[in-house]
Amino acid sequence: MNTIDELYGKYPSPCYVLFEESLEANLQLLDLVQQSAGVSIICALKGFAFWHAFPMVKEYLHGATASSLNEARLISEEMGCEAHTYAPVYLPEEFEHLLIYSNHLTFNSLSQWYRFKEQAQKSPKKVSFGLRVNPEYSEIETDLYNPAAPGCRLGIPVEQMPEQLPDGIEGLHMHALCENDSYALEHCLESFEAKFGHLIKQCKWVNLGGGHLITREGYDIAHLIDILKAFKQRYPNLEEVILEPGEAVGWQTGVLVSTVEDIVENKGIRTAILNVSFSCHMPDCLEMPYKPTIIGAHEPTEGDKFVYRMGGNSCLAGDFMGMGDFAFPEPLEIGDRVVFDDMIHYTMVKTTFFNGVKHPAIGMVDKEQNFFLFREPGYEAYKEKLG
Ligand SMILES: Cc1ncc(COP(=O)(O)O)c(C=O)c1O
Repeated sequence: MNTIDELYGKYPSPCYVLFEESLEANLQLLDLVQQSAGVSIICALKGFAFWHAFPMVKEYLHGATASSLNEARLISEEMGCEAHTYAPVYLPEEFEHLLIYSNHLTFNSLSQWYRFKEQAQKSPKKVSFGLRVNPEYSEIETDLYNPAAPGCRLGIPVEQMPEQLPDGIEGLHMHALCENDSYALEHCLESFEAKFGHLIKQCKWVNLGGGHLITREGYDIAHLIDILKAFKQRYPNLEEVILEPGEAVGWQTGVLVSTVEDIVENKGIRTAILNVSFSCHMPDCLEMPYKPTIIGAHEPTEGDKFVYRMGGNSCLAGDFMGMGDFAFPEPLEIGDRVVFDDMIHYTMVKTTFFNGVKHPAIGMVDKEQNFFLFREPGYEAYKEKLG
């Protein structure tokens, strides 16, 4: 038995495993930013929706942000609080329910606001309404994730905004970062303020969106605190400044445990076919794309003998790690565990049943090192999705 099997053989395979200790370390750091800068940090469910851990998230953060009715309801049921809600469009049949689950609700366009304004203002439920604006500044290199790209449908461009906040609007929302540092935020704020500063002065709150990878090693926390404090000083009218990261909450908090099911070779390329799929279970590896870390494996170098391509178990030809192979200290064998690191954020929330492939189980190791298996999705989950 190799070391990886010894360490991870005790978990089911395939399985997403969250380590509560790592999550708490992230939450403590985010809380330090909240306390030191006087801002509210909320968790974006689109990036991190491991709801069994929501009680711990709620201990440290100011709640969560929803991008759909389902997310808003999950926040209500499992975090026990109301959501900050933003979606590119709201549906007439859902709007009333969204009001019930939300305390802040942001509209993506003026036409959405005018479509729902009367219903929003007539509701006995107290909700604070905002508009998403587009700062048209971004340091994001991948277009798929760039909300400030020319022609983007997300957020109102400055030339369409009136000089005064529309009656009934109390906040502005902007989101233009993705895996960025505090310096990108600083530059983005310059653009946001240059374009919308007169409107920020009329707001009760501003939401600076997500994409702040605060928990990544090397993130300049002191700089972030400084720029947030300075921002608040420039706008003393603001009662609340909100950040809504998702990735930073789930960053490095767990793994996806998988198993080698076959090893095939074609034109000198040796592929280990796993019981997980890049397309179905780790889609950002193909969409971003990025090369994940496999625990115990390394970048191949000259002379490495046990080098493999990692292949997924769907029949999509491109369902393999195309960003490069992995070198292992020993030959891989059928039945060996292959453990992908940092596989909690933007994985579980994006999985699909393409090909009907088995969905990984979901489990957690608590602070006392006990493993809890929450779910082992089977045939019913697949069938239910289809009719
Ligand atoms: C409006 C909005 N808020 C927050 C987030 C969370 O971003 P991240 O998980 O990168 O912090 C996103 C991500 O796409 C978003 O679109």
